[in-house]
Amino acid sequence: MSRNEVQWLQKPNFPASHYVDTKIYTDVGLFKEEQDKIFNKVWIIACHESEVPEAYDYRTFHHPGGEEIIVMRGDDGQIRSFYNICPHRGNILLYDPVGNAKRITCIFHAWAFDCKGSCVDISRAEQGYQDRLKKDEVSLREVKTDVGFGGFVWVNVDDNSCSLKEYIGEGLSSLDECLGGQLEVFHYHRAIVDTNYKLWHDTK
Ligand code: FES
Repeated sequence: MSRNEVQWLQKPNFPASHYVDTKIYTDVGLFKEEQDKIFNKVWIIACHESEVPEAYDYRTFHHPGGEEIIVMRGDDGQIRSFYNICPHRGNILLYDPVGNAKRITCIFHAWAFDCKGSCVDISRAEQGYQDRLKKDEVSLREVKTDVGFGGFVWVNVDDNSCSLKEYIGEGLSSLDECLGGQLEVFHYHRAIVDTNYKLWHDTK
């Protein structure tokens, strides 16, 4: 038998702990709590190392905790990550999903940064700041990064987190043996789904 609106909105006649409250899909406060307590505490895959094969290759990543992140391979071969935020006035630095940038130059006032996050140029620094600002005081903010378990690039925005190896434990330890150097991303597709992330997963 169909239900009217009142019946539809009524809570089930169970204790609160016995059913899934639909607020998990709609409550903004709950989502914020998930970001703070889960996503901003754990290691998350940002991309795969095959997406940044050459020095200065980068990949931008929207972290589920809300932060915009740049993953970049340095001229020393190491992959690092930074918040995609200019330390001057908070402008987003890189907009494309992938690219190659020997210098990351902010489009707002042209401050420039290298592949290790160091500030290499402050436009009109002498006129604007005299000796009140040094380049090494305004480098990019680095995000904890590690590569492993099949060549995935993992990030953790919690500076106090454990290492990736401790976090994963033995669970994926055979991945490197089985897949080491064999995985490659050959297609990138991004879809923006205007809904709670759980709704997307739970309906698949
Ligand atoms: S906001 Fe980036 S240089 Fe000013």
